[in-house]
Amino acid sequence: MKSRIESLKSQALTALKAAKSEAEVRDLEVKYLGRNGAFNEIMKSLKDLSDDEKRTVGKLANETKSELETAILKKYSELEMAAFDVIAEKEWIDVTVPGVKPSVGHRHLISKFIDDLEVVFGRMGFAVAEGPDIEQEHYNFNQLNMPEDHPSRDMQDTFWVKNLKRVALRSQTSPVQIRYMEAHEPPVRIISMGKTFRRDNDATHSPMFHQIEGLMVDTDISIANLKAVLTHFLQQVFEDPSIKTRFRTSYFPFVEPGMEVDCTCPICHGEGKLSDGVPCKLCKQCGWLEIGGAGMVHPKVLENVGYDSKKYTGFAFGFGIDRMIMIKYRINHLRLFFENDLRFITQF
Ligand code: PHE
Repeated sequence: MKSRIESLKSQALTALKAAKSEAEVRDLEVKYLGRNGAFNEIMKSLKDLSDDEKRTVGKLANETKSELETAILKKYSELEMAAFDVIAEKEWIDVTVPGVKPSVGHRHLISKFIDDLEVVFGRMGFAVAEGPDIEQEHYNFNQLNMPEDHPSRDMQDTFWVKNLKRVALRSQTSPVQIRYMEAHEPPVRIISMGKTFRRDNDATHSPMFHQIEGLMVDTDISIANLKAVLTHFLQQVFEDPSIKTRFRTSYFPFVEPGMEVDCTCPICHGEGKLSDGVPCKLCKQCGWLEIGGAGMVHPKVLENVGYDSKKYTGFAFGFGIDRMIMIKYRINHLRLFFENDLRFITQF
């Protein structure tokens, strides 16, 4: 019996030494130490031996068993270490290789342009005022001298909010004039920039667009002030001190007189053609571009907010921001602003 134990032991150790995987070791574990394994067979047959033999053989069997257990555990950990070595060999990282920098995003062209406008007007002493995108009819129309049945409302095809009476997506930034004047006494010198909404959709009109509104109210404000501010503003925006402005009479109910503001085309500098004689496409060869509306604040509007229209005068203007950006950067379709195509967006 003793020699049977010895030979089992050396068999097991040899097999263990040759084993190359955890699975093989597990098989050996079952074969020698498992419930129906070789050593349990020996334990079972001890009962046929004399008491003396039981003691010595039993002891030897137990010792050998625990020796094998230790050897098996050791083998497991050797295999595990070897597996780590393989991983270390295959999956190493060279920390000295220069990294790939993740690209950092930046603000959208429109947002940046709005910041620029704020700087230009900030230098002229204008503060920024804000109003809600979803506006009451009262502010978007009524207080601006556009009463309910007034035909001028049709000039701006408005998105009304369903099931909410007298509430709309603002069709212009002009309501901010009213909100600001209601809350402040003159002198007033503000701009307001933001989203506006109308039922429009083509290459140069989108249902959502941006406007900049300007308002200056004080004693003795005249069209001369309006012209000076707007000319300086357009020269700054287009980064061209040679820009000139011209005013054409027009109609907006909240100003009197009202006008359309044009500036010389920043591409052909008012010539209608480029220096090599090629006709200017942007201004369609006329040398002027229409930029927005302006005028002297209507006395009725001043009275609507409780200002003394005998004492105070003011000017207001409203320009399309998207259009100015398109002119400045020669962008030919509004769609590009909203598609979020990185090839476009990262150019600015
Ligand atoms: N709110 C006008 C528009 O959107 C523009 C404007 C503003 C005209 C201020 C005159 C004075 O068409």
